[in-house]
Amino acid sequence: MSSTLFDLSHKVAVVTGAAQGIGRAMSMALAEAGADLMLVDRNEAGVRQTAVDIAKLGRRAEVAVINVSEPAQIRALFARVDAEFGRVDFLGNVAGEGILGAPEDIALEDVEQVWRDLVFGRFCACQEAGRRMLAAGRGSIVNIGSLASVTALGRGHIAYSMAMGAVAQMTRELSTEWSGQGVRVNAILPAQVLNPSLEKRIAATPELADQFLSGIPAGRFGRPSDIMGLAVLLASDASEWITGALIPMDGGNLAMNGGGSVRRRKSEPKA
Ligand SMILES: NC(=O)c1ccc[n+]([C@@H]2O[C@H](COP(=O)([O-])OP(=O)(O)OC[C@H]3O[C@@H](n4cnc5c(N)ncnc54)[C@H](O)[C@@H]3O)[C@@H](O)[C@H]2O)c1
Repeated sequence: MSSTLFDLSHKVAVVTGAAQGIGRAMSMALAEAGADLMLVDRNEAGVRQTAVDIAKLGRRAEVAVINVSEPAQIRALFARVDAEFGRVDFLGNVAGEGILGAPEDIALEDVEQVWRDLVFGRFCACQEAGRRMLAAGRGSIVNIGSLASVTALGRGHIAYSMAMGAVAQMTRELSTEWSGQGVRVNAILPAQVLNPSLEKRIAATPELADQFLSGIPAGRFGRPSDIMGLAVLLASDASEWITGALIPMDGGNLAMNGGGSVRRRKSEPKA
């Protein structure tokens, strides 16, 4: 296989949520494959650290400290991409978060805020990147969804789940509209990837770890680095015919029916 298949030299990537977790790992992977980056996050110290680490790889990294819930800030971000890079080849839509609340109690304002963060934020970035990519006749967009894009989570995830369901449909619609013009749009659906808030929840309720792991046949939580290969694949020409896909990154969770039995460990008998 040619090593140029995954080469991202001379490409420019915009990644939101780049200060930590999945967005940071995605950014590092794209830089290692040769891309220059516009790193986006509201956490200034974190995103600047990612930029420093990318510069050590010999790649260019600019920083934008914005809130992705604010369309005006996203538009200003892409104006900067035009001025500072003059092109955009890849968008990783990673930043954004849910607010927990039981369906019967959650405030509509909270539902709206989650929608602004995960749906408007991702869509506005897709629209800005998409316009530029359509004009150039090439580009790749990855929206981070969730298992909640296609299945229910319960435990107060109603607002998050409704928004992530919209992210799946956003991905399919944009792929359908744009792929004939060279712009691919895919989504990655992670299961539980360890991050500070998940670690806090597990520390507060230790039985949660076993509950989550019983749904992951691969037998471990996700790590932010699990995104690295997928990000490079989807940003590169190696995935030229992959578009409109919702790709689980979940250690086998979605493949296993919710009523499936707990994973079998190597030492256990087959029956
Ligand atoms: N970690 C998981 O288990 C998991 C599972 C499924 C989906 N996801 C989704 O993947 C994405 C990234 O998750 P993660 O685990 O890397 O999270 P994380 O909390 O580790 O990192 C999220 C980053 O996004 C930034 N951010 C959040 N909201 C923002 C906003 N409105 N504007 C600008 N920056 C903002 C944060 O500052 C942070 O740097 C999220 O959308 C999350 O919902 C995560």
